[in-house]
Amino acid sequence: MDQSMDHEHQAGMSGMSGTSVADLTGPKTGMPNVIVTLTARKQKFQLASGETVDGYTVNGTSPGPLIRARVGDLIQVTFVNESVPDGATLHWHGIDVPNAEDGVAGVTQDAVPMGGKHVYRFKAPAAGTYWYHSHQVSADEVKGGLFGPIVIAPPSPGEVIATIHTYDGKRTINGHTGTSRVALPAGTTARIRVINTDNAILRVGLVGTPYKVVAIDGRDVHGPTAVTAAYPLAAGGRVDLEAVVPAGGMRLDAGTASTSLGIGSADPPQAELPGNNVDLLSYGTPAPLGFDPAKANRNFEYRIGRSAGFLDGIPGLWWTINGHKFPDVPMFMVAEGDIVKMKISNTSGQAHPMHLHGHHIVVLSRNGVPATGSPWWTDSLEVGNKETYEIAFVADNPGLWMDHCHNLPHASQGLITHLMYE
Ligand code: C2O
Ligand code: CU
Repeated sequence: MDQSMDHEHQAGMSGMSGTSVADLTGPKTGMPNVIVTLTARKQKFQLASGETVDGYTVNGTSPGPLIRARVGDLIQVTFVNESVPDGATLHWHGIDVPNAEDGVAGVTQDAVPMGGKHVYRFKAPAAGTYWYHSHQVSADEVKGGLFGPIVIAPPSPGEVIATIHTYDGKRTINGHTGTSRVALPAGTTARIRVINTDNAILRVGLVGTPYKVVAIDGRDVHGPTAVTAAYPLAAGGRVDLEAVVPAGGMRLDAGTASTSLGIGSADPPQAELPGNNVDLLSYGTPAPLGFDPAKANRNFEYRIGRSAGFLDGIPGLWWTINGHKFPDVPMFMVAEGDIVKMKISNTSGQAHPMHLHGHHIVVLSRNGVPATGSPWWTDSLEVGNKETYEIAFVADNPGLWMDHCHNLPHASQGLITHLMYE
């Protein structure tokens, strides 16, 4: 995000009767189950496959180290900014942490300056695949490598983590360009945790075997079935794929012919991903949501548009919400316990992967077609051009939460709003 944001929210939570962001923290006391120090640097570094990149690292590498925790664990991360000139933070993308731990510069904390540090403490609320990244000048710092994976689940023998990122035009999986390999014996049930840290949607999937989409954005799919289709993985989104490793091996395709991950004990097959996509509206079998969207007491309209020229007095190319760009977009106000429905439409000419912090939303319909499969819970929803989604969620995490496009340059171009608790 732009540093200009720093000045917009210094008043913090003044709207919330007597509560400030600073009060909405994780546990202040108690012995952590997971203790990590993550140090950010701006530097030249080598990708795992050897190419030199000028960008950002976490503990000397990018992606940064995996953080592993179990549900209920108290996680303590000491974040040190050694040499990131614009300052940096860590945001726990997809983890519904208490507001003050959310790591958004200018909203929940100040950016950590060079030489500074910040301690994050939160309990791991739900199992799943997540990632952490800087939320200061994000378009530059995330692109340059200031991120890493976080998995809330015990390790399992078939687990594979696949963090996808494009550095300087080089598409990588776990820092490898080209084809890399994870050795797993044939017959192993593999769970591949795929993370899209890029700005654009990726078509991902396994080649060489049918597979199941078992979790989306850290939430298990109910009753998944085997597919021969690609999964459209929104920017910032995660998907867990499951398959039994065939004798001939299999391959994670990350949307380009040149970069893939072989899984198994043989060279991965060279076949292409199928041309069709898994349709998440009807995938899996239905299960209760845990709340009734028909009882929504807040109904919001959310129109994404584009404006070239002067907007709110400033010239540029802007992406807008209800005709305004950040910071002139009104916030969406809720109270704790509200059932919230949003109708999101997009006539901007481009797709926008919308990411709401602190909450998981459920998709009710797309272009008027109701969702009939497993509840499609997401935190990073690709809203295509000319599409309309209806989504719902329960306002159960008080604070001031960013809601923005995860094509991060678009966020700098105005596509940011906030959800704010009264
Ligand atoms: Cu992954 Cu507001 O960010
Ligand atoms: Cu966008």
